[in-house]
Amino acid sequence: MQAITYAMYGPPDVLHLKDVDRPEPGDDEVLIRVRAAEATKSDCEMRSFNHSVKWFWLPLRIALGITKPRQQILGGYFSGEIAALGRNVTQFAVGEQVFGAAGLRLGAYGEYVALPANYTIVVKPDNMSFAEAAAVPLGGLNALHFMHLAKVAAGEKVLINGAGGSIGTHAVQIAKSMGAEVTAVDSAIKENMLRRLGADHFIDYAKDDFARSSHGYDVIFDMVPGSSYSACIRSLNRNGRYLSGNPRLSLIIRSVFTTRFSDKTARFAFARETREELLALKAMIEDGKVGSIVDRVLPMEEAAEAHRLVETEQRLGAIVIAIGDLDGVQ
Ligand SMILES: NC(=O)c1ccc[n+]([C@@H]2O[C@H](COP(=O)([O-])OP(=O)(O)OC[C@H]3O[C@@H](n4cnc5c(N)ncnc54)[C@H](OP(=O)(O)O)[C@@H]3O)[C@@H](O)[C@H]2O)c1
Repeated sequence: MQAITYAMYGPPDVLHLKDVDRPEPGDDEVLIRVRAAEATKSDCEMRSFNHSVKWFWLPLRIALGITKPRQQILGGYFSGEIAALGRNVTQFAVGEQVFGAAGLRLGAYGEYVALPANYTIVVKPDNMSFAEAAAVPLGGLNALHFMHLAKVAAGEKVLINGAGGSIGTHAVQIAKSMGAEVTAVDSAIKENMLRRLGADHFIDYAKDDFARSSHGYDVIFDMVPGSSYSACIRSLNRNGRYLSGNPRLSLIIRSVFTTRFSDKTARFAFARETREELLALKAMIEDGKVGSIVDRVLPMEEAAEAHRLVETEQRLGAIVIAIGDLDGVQ
């Protein structure tokens, strides 16, 4: 089979298309014929080892390979078809169309990936193409997890910082579906897209600093590494909740004090990305509450370009790689 591989950490050009052995599913695994995979910030960070959360470098390096990557096929979020079942697997059928997350097993940049059947893999929504479905699990699972942690109530004012990214575009839609009044913060080119997704207000971060305005928010969901923690906490209303997906150590410590000694709550977390959450997202997609925003679908040969687009933010929505044939993916 063909796969996008990398034999060393480095810039996008370390990605190469190669013939590799097709994996065999174990007794409790499914073999998936991957049709599309999202090129994500996380893929780029694992390839380059240029992480926004610095303390994460060492544990991840130990997990992925000290001098070179042990698993040479990236790809954490995908859609595809069940191609074969391990002998103990009963919950899937060959030919079923699925989407999901490969966790730290990765491998979705290859035409076939073998994964435990109890991973976060769910039947694909009927109303999405393979490309659209592949663009959901990363952003959707993270956004849903954080919006549930925030316990967003109808009528609350929710600000999403970094709203135009993979996670933010889903967070805008999910917060709206929970009845919130949503303020999206990102660069000006993303305003139309974010308003189409339901944002009530838009702030261009290059022109205005939301933390300096007199508006207060009940929930701030912050996806931007390096944003000012104290400014975000100041912008919260009484009983406001701050959630961040970039858990820097010093801020984790400050968040404990904020939560203990003020009427506000701060949480830094990693999303668990569970099967139950993906099923909930599938239902939201089929109900028309959440859609997928795909900027471009590129062939496997252009994987390095896909990573460049993700790293340089030259995109409006997800960059998806068609795994194998482009036909029938979009
Ligand atoms: N905790 C978890 O479980 C978890 C899981 C996955 C990812 N993450 C982290 O979450 C973050 C977001 O991930 P993602 O995949 O959604 O990234 P992404 O797709 O790259 O989105 C980031 C967005 O933030 C915008 N942005 C950059 N600087 C900004 C600023 N100063 N103010 C407001 N917006 C700004 C970017 O726009 P422009 O650059 O175009 O201006 C882009 O639209 C990443 O740092 C990632 O490492 C956390």
